[in-house]
Amino acid sequence: MIYIAPSILAADYAALGSDVLKVPNADLLHVDIMDGHFVPNLSFGPDVTRAVNGVTDQFLDMHLMIEQPEKWFATYAEAGGDRLVFHVEATPDHVAAARQAHELGVQAGFAVKPGTPIEPYLDSLEHVEEVMIMSVEPGFGGQKFMPEVLDKVRVLRDHIAGAGLSTIIAIDGGIAEATIAQAAAAGVDSFVAGSAVFGSDDPAAAVDTLRSVALAAR
Ligand code: DX5
Ligand code: ZN
Repeated sequence: MIYIAPSILAADYAALGSDVLKVPNADLLHVDIMDGHFVPNLSFGPDVTRAVNGVTDQFLDMHLMIEQPEKWFATYAEAGGDRLVFHVEATPDHVAAARQAHELGVQAGFAVKPGTPIEPYLDSLEHVEEVMIMSVEPGFGGQKFMPEVLDKVRVLRDHIAGAGLSTIIAIDGGIAEATIAQAAAAGVDSFVAGSAVFGSDDPAAAVDTLRSVALAAR
């Protein structure tokens, strides 16, 4: 299954409600939360998440680029987050963090920065619904895709297949028509796209194009 996840980081914040409604054909929405500490930027928080959740029934993947993410799990679950994706670099115990998310009745995922190896985390994939490979340094939209992270995707794909798991492999950063095929061929299931979707004149058409290019490359 291929999932296209528009990142509302690239939406028009003065028209966020109507922008969200421009991508009814998306499989889920990606919500980037930044705290100015874990990453050198700020985005939005629980109130904006709640507002987005109020205008759409779409699944909200919460990308928590924040320190001490566990402290915020209950807040983002209550605000409408459907999956809490925290960074392994931000928590001392990623398995315990995943368990805390599940105890709140939401899905769990962990994200890894481009420079973080995946091998130490392969044995804990059974504890999360999604693993997110960052293909840019987290913090800003519109950056250049880093193809070298696809080696981690291939390792994950083999491990997930070998272990008979259903963990979704997501990729985040620099995904566009020109880069999505190589990510799909490497084994990515879920593709986050900010500027490629909301920077387009026709965001829904951009979602459809990304999906068909990914499907063709798989
Ligand atoms: C970056 C964010 C991404 C961002 C991707 O820190 O995690 O989700 O929105 O934006 P694009 O698709 O423009 O690279
Ligand atoms: Zn993100």
